[in-house]
Amino acid sequence: MKGRRPRPLDDGDSGEVRVSGHLSWAKPIENKRVFCLTQSATITFMTIISNCTATALKDAASSLIKGNLVAFPTETVYGLGADATNEKAVARIYEVKGRPTDHPLIVHISSMELLDKWASEIPEYAIKLARKFWPGPMTLILPRTELAKDFVTGGQNNVGIRVPEHSVALELLKKFEALGGLGVAAPSANRFGKVSPTNSEAVEEEIGKFLLEADQILDGGSSQIGIESTIIDCTKDLPVVLRPGYITSEMIESFLSLNLANFDSANNKVLVSGLLEAHYSPNAQVKLNGVPNPGEGFIALADVPTPVGAVRLARPKNNDEYAHELYNALRLADSKGIKTVQVITPVEQGVGVAIKNRLIKASFIK
Ligand code: TXA
Ligand code: MG
Repeated sequence: MKGRRPRPLDDGDSGEVRVSGHLSWAKPIENKRVFCLTQSATITFMTIISNCTATALKDAASSLIKGNLVAFPTETVYGLGADATNEKAVARIYEVKGRPTDHPLIVHISSMELLDKWASEIPEYAIKLARKFWPGPMTLILPRTELAKDFVTGGQNNVGIRVPEHSVALELLKKFEALGGLGVAAPSANRFGKVSPTNSEAVEEEIGKFLLEADQILDGGSSQIGIESTIIDCTKDLPVVLRPGYITSEMIESFLSLNLANFDSANNKVLVSGLLEAHYSPNAQVKLNGVPNPGEGFIALADVPTPVGAVRLARPKNNDEYAHELYNALRLADSKGIKTVQVITPVEQGVGVAIKNRLIKASFIK
């Protein structure tokens, strides 16, 4: 099968191999869980690193330098990383995700110091935003330098840059940069159009079978924020929010003391796959603000009682918890085989705006 390296099991592979359905796995070896996914006659190995020690992260960084893929945790969602200057490695991201190649990737760096390697012009307001919100859940779109090739930007003249706020991600990036790396291209580690993963098990479930033996998944626990970064177009006189996130428009306006320009999708050539009508979708049909029939899934804030017969999938206490739990709740629906999930949308305050944005896309009729 394309993208897989078949390899028969042999005695040296593990102590004891347990088999469950089509998935079998080896016992932990030091801090590694070596997964062996079998399907028909195809067997693929990749490694989940469950204890991200300095040595493990150095190993992952050098694996990136060699052109392999490393999925890693961030505070928003898990990313699927490749050396952003390595065309072949980046091509594998698109293959593993099943994503069209004209959809650009975000380049992750460990600090603002590498920003001018990637961005040719950086407006004053973008520098202020970077100083205030990085490391953090914010991506800046800036005019690109020569380093940002078409294979990362999807052929656009600008590039998305982010400094994530997660100790594993930051350490990985620092070690990668110490080895001469300049940036890690990483989209969310899910199949195209699907729900972003917020823990390593979800990454494995989404893309594990498309990864190769030398690829790794770093486990850094559950992503604290739980929805993707705020994307801000910084190529114009005023910043424009292209994708809402934890850093809200109000926060940006009040910090910069200006009014944000409105995003005009009809006149904006910037291609953001998260701006497609359908995205962030589980297999279940998501419906908004209706009453669930018995057996259907139900997601709402904790103070909303569960309608009779509905399967409660999450009961967050506030919008922050809502963002943190949402994607897991949608995955839970799929794992329970639930076909329809009714979601009561949160008040559009703070991160509630971003949650509603994702839910509207998730509820697009398939
Ligand atoms: O929180 C996040 O942003 C996560 C973590 C892993 O950093 N990443 C993420 O990447 O959500 P992705 O590729 O799943 O979504 C990024 C969005 C895409 O819709 C992409 O089209 C858009 O950002 N994007 C990336 N570079 C861009 C660019 N140069 N111009 C316009 N949009 C861009
Ligand atoms: Mg994504």
